Amino acid sequence: SICCLLGCAAEFYVIDDRIGLGREFDGIGGLSGGGATSRLLVNYEEPYRSHILDFLFKPNFGASLHILKVEIGGDAQTTDGTEPSHMHSKGEGNFFLGYEWWLMKEAKKRNPNIKLIGLPWAFPGWVGEGTQWPYFFPNVTADYVVSWIYGAKQHHNLDIDYIGIWNERKYDPVYIKVNELILLYSVHYPGTKTVKEALLTEKKLWSSEDYSTFNDDIGAGCWARILNQNYVNGRMTSTISWNLIASYYKNLSFGGDGLMTADEPWSGHYVVESPIWMTAHTTQFTQPGWFYLQTVGNLTHGGSYVALTDRKGNLTIVIQTMVGVLHTVTLNPHFSSKAHLTDLQVWYSKLDFKTKNDTLFQNLPVSTQVYNGSFTLKLDVDEVYTITTVNTGQKGAYPEPPKSQPFPKNYSDDFTIDNPPFSEAPFFADQTGVFEYFRNSTDNGSHAFTLRQVVTERPVTWARDAYQTISIIGDYSWTDLSVSCDVLIETPVTGGVFLAARVDQGGESVREAKGVFYWISANGTYKVTNDIGLSGTREGVWYTLTLRVKGYFATGMLNGYPLWKNAVVLEPKNGWAALGTLSFEYAQFDNFKVNAE
Ligand code: GAL
Repeated sequence: SICCLLGCAAEFYVIDDRIGLGREFDGIGGLSGGGATSRLLVNYEEPYRSHILDFLFKPNFGASLHILKVEIGGDAQTTDGTEPSHMHSKGEGNFFLGYEWWLMKEAKKRNPNIKLIGLPWAFPGWVGEGTQWPYFFPNVTADYVVSWIYGAKQHHNLDIDYIGIWNERKYDPVYIKVNELILLYSVHYPGTKTVKEALLTEKKLWSSEDYSTFNDDIGAGCWARILNQNYVNGRMTSTISWNLIASYYKNLSFGGDGLMTADEPWSGHYVVESPIWMTAHTTQFTQPGWFYLQTVGNLTHGGSYVALTDRKGNLTIVIQTMVGVLHTVTLNPHFSSKAHLTDLQVWYSKLDFKTKNDTLFQNLPVSTQVYNGSFTLKLDVDEVYTITTVNTGQKGAYPEPPKSQPFPKNYSDDFTIDNPPFSEAPFFADQTGVFEYFRNSTDNGSHAFTLRQVVTERPVTWARDAYQTISIIGDYSWTDLSVSCDVLIETPVTGGVFLAARVDQGGESVREAKGVFYWISANGTYKVTNDIGLSGTREGVWYTLTLRVKGYFATGMLNGYPLWKNAVVLEPKNGWAALGTLSFEYAQFDNFKVNAE
């Protein structure tokens, strides 16, 4: 034996495919949604947006993902915002809302073989027919989901490969049987372990949502470990990252939990974080349809190794040492096709938590000599090695993107755009309800193009949506500002709208959001925080609301005249600007303007 070459802890591992193979590998993926996690990505200007997409999806470039999983929008809050449903109301399909269709097409453009998955978190209220439950009318729910699949094909030529049941909520056997086919079982955040009963089914097992860790080196190490261990410990053959890309305002729930970060479309700044390169170690050298070898396992002194083959002579070994001590391993591949085993490529990463000076996805000169059919590696902690016959690996790069910039202090939007590429207006991040560009055909004057809140019934929710609708925008650190917007209440008597500043919460805690809210309603009343007075407003008339907040005081104007003055604001001290409605009701917004100090 040739172990103990270096006189330290040494181990000997045999890689062998002659004893038969392990399970079929189904790929590594990223999840857009659950919810609104890609919201800000769509508003990047070119070429930055294409660069970012290349780092995610382009084969032999970056994360080179095998799978894209998306949320089937349900008009409700699903962690970092709401995503629009393709059917706000029964029978009214619109397959051009939101950005998931666009994202799937961009992914396919780069990798025609990428697998697509759809999964609902929430459903529009009509799906439950008022019950707030998607399983009382299983045919209605099944039709709704099937219409999304057909819509994907018909309007976007997208073939959906997998559909899930209901994210992290109960399943229902009657509903499942309407859809019939069960391809695989999946779990979320399994901690790399699988229960015995699942193994006994002999079905494919996936970790269809995993990771959810801030994307620094701790996140990268965690991700690298999961990618190997989900198979080594749990025999799971696919792992999907929540989330794909951190493209939502940082102060929302789970800020920064993507494989990379792109949350500044106004500046073009983005960061290719280390989890992208941890992903590349597996994705660039394997494909769905490859097979794990049976010879996979944990290393005695920390870490783990997997080996996969395409059954056509290619072999890829991925070793990670996210725990452990300095040690030497010797691998002895007995591979039925010895064709290229003398010509192995080595890709190397080391996360350096002390110096922060990481080595990420480097192609090492072949220091790994295959000697007598074996090769020896000296492993340290926090490293990843890929040793492979595949010679197409590449560390993709683009020129540095622009520098990070805060959200512009002076920003306005009159929502006047013909054929907008997306249904949402830039930078508005809906937290309850859905706000869409609207062609207001009853107005050919100055309010012909507006932004409209369109969810008129409480959805079958997944999170604790607010009772009001709300869309946030801007910079969480804003304190003193003036925000102004033309507003149109559409619902008589009970309708109402607001404009807000210093909104301090969104995401799953949107219901608890505090701030300075300036309301007017169709019955002529207004209120600020909790004070109620008369504004004389009603439905069907455009008003201009202006809210000024400075230090401890807020002032509200209606059509340019002061309506209330010097309301005392002790808390919160900062937050986003926002607009919204009193309930789930139609209302329109136009000429939004914010000036922060
Ligand atoms: C999951 C959920 C995601 C997101 C994530 C955050 O349970 O499916 O939508 O909330 O947790 O860790």
